[in-house]
Amino acid sequence: LDTARFSFGVLTMSDKGSRGEREDTSGPYLLQTLQDLGYQQKAYAIVPDQVESIQKTLIAWVDDEKVDLIITTGGTGVAPTDVTPEAMVDVIEKDIPGMAEAMRAESLKKTPNAVLSRGRAGIRGKSLIINLPGSEKAARENLAVLLPCLAHALDKIH
Ligand code: MTE
Repeated sequence: LDTARFSFGVLTMSDKGSRGEREDTSGPYLLQTLQDLGYQQKAYAIVPDQVESIQKTLIAWVDDEKVDLIITTGGTGVAPTDVTPEAMVDVIEKDIPGMAEAMRAESLKKTPNAVLSRGRAGIRGKSLIINLPGSEKAARENLAVLLPCLAHALDKIH
């Protein structure tokens, strides 16, 4: 399957990152990895952990910019500021629970804290949106679980 057909965006959720107080290493890692696989980079942003700013960005990327694949990182956990899954609820039209379940199941082999990620995956329009945890290690390990099925998923969604 030709990955170059599909555009992608990376959205980092981080209060500190959005204020320039912490360097985002997960975002650049994800950008580089997907680019190396042939996907076409179209968007990258860091937004604060707020439902409204997350939803605004996701909806604009899907509805206006037609980004095919959106990978988010951060805000999936159980801290008071973690609201990525809550933002997803009103953004996605179809839930893909198997993707989120597979990431948690594989991650559990690496750390018991894997169960703390509440990340979701779903479809809005013709876009696939996937939530990854925030640390670069967690983002890398979770993305690796879904990489083998991404191009097929995008092909089907289109
Ligand atoms: N999954 C993998 N594969 N590797 C990890 O190191 N970290 C966990 C979990 N999932 C982790 C992981 C931790 S410590 C947390 S708190 C949750 O993801 C949520 O992370 P987030 O709040 O940064 O989104």
